[in-house]
Amino acid sequence: MDTPDPLLSVEGLHVSYGAKQVLRGIDYHVSEREVVAVLGANGSGKSTSLNTISGFVSSNAGRIVFDGSDVTALPAHRIFRLGVIQVSQSRDLFPFLTVEHNLRLGGVIRNRHEIEDRLEQVFEYFPRLKERRGQQARTLSGGEQQMAAIGRAIMARPRLLLLDEPSGGLAPQFINEIGTIIQALKDDGATILMVEQNLALAFKVADRFIILRDGTVSDGGFVRSLEGNYDDIVRTIYL
Ligand SMILES: Nc1ncnc2c1ncn2[C@@H]1O[C@H](COP(=O)(O)OP(=O)(O)O)[C@@H](O)[C@H]1O
Ligand SMILES: [Mg+2]
Repeated sequence: MDTPDPLLSVEGLHVSYGAKQVLRGIDYHVSEREVVAVLGANGSGKSTSLNTISGFVSSNAGRIVFDGSDVTALPAHRIFRLGVIQVSQSRDLFPFLTVEHNLRLGGVIRNRHEIEDRLEQVFEYFPRLKERRGQQARTLSGGEQQMAAIGRAIMARPRLLLLDEPSGGLAPQFINEIGTIIQALKDDGATILMVEQNLALAFKVADRFIILRDGTVSDGGFVRSLEGNYDDIVRTIYL
């Protein structure tokens, strides 16, 4: 039987900032309902890789194919409309808007009925956001802001959810909660490409791993389990 085409494929992607070449021909794919984690040291191009998929950064060479269409040259708003929704590393909430207003803005590409529906869904995933729906986003703790940022992305009903370091800067208790949420999204059929420096979290939720190193996908970049591999993985990433 033929395996279905992946939802996302990245083929021979090269990205530079001016003279600085960050990605030197990377290839990977994400299939429907998969959770794939991108690992790599600081500055290895993990965020660049996500930002190129969502159209915020343009590539010098290579192709990005989403759901059978070449999206390499599409502007970010068109890619967003296709349902490729990114939660950036900086979360980018509107600080002076309420939690609920931030969430509703995430549903801008959906109709009114869908927005109400999604809002209920987000509050099921994040009861804490329901409690805090009337508060300005700036008054939330770091962990709650990450929840709001993920919640806002879910409002768009993503076909591919891109998460850039969801555990970044969070206390252990929140890292656990975020892990539980990612697991719940996965159980509900989400397709997720996530960047994560927290190996324990990545290994808890991801089906596959991609290790970026020196602008390419490392040979050791397709491991499936942390068990017995931990030292190898750390060496591949950092040494
Ligand atoms: N907008 C930019 N302009 C110039 N250099 C950048 C820009 N964004 C990232 N870089 C550089 O590109 C490299 C990869 O960055 P990034 O993709 O953010 O890495 P990671 O997310 O893996 O830490 C780093 O050396 C970073 O300093
Ligand atoms: Mg980054």
